Amino acid sequence: MNPYLNDFPVLGEKRDGKRLVYLDNAATTQKPLSVIQAVDEYYRRSNANPHRGLYELSIRATKMYEDARESVRAFINAGKACEVLFTRNASESLNLVAYSYGMNFIHEGDEIALPVSEHHSNLLPWQMVAKAKGAKLVYLYPDSCGRLPERELNKIGPKTALVAVAHVSNVLGTVYPVQEIVRRAHAVGAVVVLDCAQSIPHYPVDVKKLDVDFAAFSGHKMLAPMGIGVLYGKEELLNQMPPFLTGGEMIEYVSEQNATFAPLPQKFEAGTQNVGGAVGLSAAIDYMKKVGYDTIIKTEEDLLAYALDGMAKIPHVTVYGDTKAGEQRCGVISFNVDGVHPHDVSSILDSDGVAIRAGHHCAQPLMKYLGVNATCRASLYFYNTREDIDVFLASLKKVRGWLGLGT
Ligand code: ALA
Repeated sequence: MNPYLNDFPVLGEKRDGKRLVYLDNAATTQKPLSVIQAVDEYYRRSNANPHRGLYELSIRATKMYEDARESVRAFINAGKACEVLFTRNASESLNLVAYSYGMNFIHEGDEIALPVSEHHSNLLPWQMVAKAKGAKLVYLYPDSCGRLPERELNKIGPKTALVAVAHVSNVLGTVYPVQEIVRRAHAVGAVVVLDCAQSIPHYPVDVKKLDVDFAAFSGHKMLAPMGIGVLYGKEELLNQMPPFLTGGEMIEYVSEQNATFAPLPQKFEAGTQNVGGAVGLSAAIDYMKKVGYDTIIKTEEDLLAYALDGMAKIPHVTVYGDTKAGEQRCGVISFNVDGVHPHDVSSILDSDGVAIRAGHHCAQPLMKYLGVNATCRASLYFYNTREDIDVFLASLKKVRGWLGLGT
C-alpha cells in the first residue's frame, strides 16, 4: 500500500479500470492535499493585492507572501530574503538573468560555457545573449555515462564570462559536479547560473555551499502549483543589474521622463505578485521537509536501481546515460525501444495507465548529440512504488509484440 495515497488522491485513481502509474515527475509533480488546501484557504480568507493596500486584508496577504519568501530563503540557505525573487517559473528566472545580467555584463569575445544537455530554458537565453553581444557559446559534451569528463570541464577558461549548467539533466538524470564547475568558473572570474529545476525536488540545494551566483527553479516540479518560480541571485550582482520587467510596484519614483527603482527584491517583481502560488510553494516546502530529503533520496535510489535492473532484462530497450543507479544519477530514465517511435511507446504504456513523456524533452541539441530525434522518459518521485515500476516494466515488455515486432 502506497503510504502517500491519502495525500495524493490522484495516485489511487483508476481510468478504464487501470490505476494511474505516474512516471512523468520531471515534467511536473502531483500536488499534496496540504498544498491544495493552503492555496484554497488563501483565496477563501486572505486574498488582497499585496504591498499596496493599507488595510488588514492586504497587510495579511503581504505577510503571507513575504513569509513564503523567507521559507524559500531558509530552504535554499540564501543569506538574505532579498536575494530570493519570485518569478513564474525557472524559464522566466533564467530569462531574467540573461536579459538583465547577460545583456549588460557579457561582452564581445566573451565565452558562455554550457553542457550540450541543457534544457532549452538554459540554452536559448544564452544563444540570444551570444548573438546580441558577439559572445561565443562553448559546449561541454558528456561521455556515454552522461558525465562531463575533465577535458570538457577544461573548456572553462580565461575567456569564459558565464557558465550555465543544470544541477541535474532533465534527460540523462546526471547530477553535474556543480562545486567543481563553480570552482573553475570563479577562478577565471566567470559567474555560474545554476538551473536546479530538476534537482531541488530530489536533493538539497544549498546556494551558499555551492557558491553559485544565480539559481533558478520552478515550484510545480516540487509539489507546488504551476506559475510560481524562484530566482536566487547574489545581492551584489542583483543590485548592479537593471530591472527585467518594468511596471507596477517595482519603482521608487516615476516622473514623465524618468524613473528610479525600488530596492531588492521589488525591483525585479513588476506587477501584481502571485501570492497564492508563493503560499502554495511554502506549503510544498513544508511537505517536503516532513517527508525529508533522506527518505526522498533513499526511496528514489531504490526505485531507480529496480527500474534500471528490470529494463536491462528487456530486449530491444536502450537506456541513455548511466545505466546503473548511483550518487551521480537521479531518477530520470531516457530510453528507446528498437523500431518503435517514442510517441507510440508512450501511447501503448498509456493504455496500461502508465504516464511517461516522449519527445525531445526541450533538449534538441542533446538529442542530436545522442543521434536520435526523440526518447521516452520515465521519471520518478518519492511517492512512486515498486508496484508502479512492475506495471511500467510489464507494459514496456509488451510494446514490440503489440506492434507485431519480434520480442
Ligand atoms: N522541463 C520539463 C521537462 O523536462 C517540462 O519535462
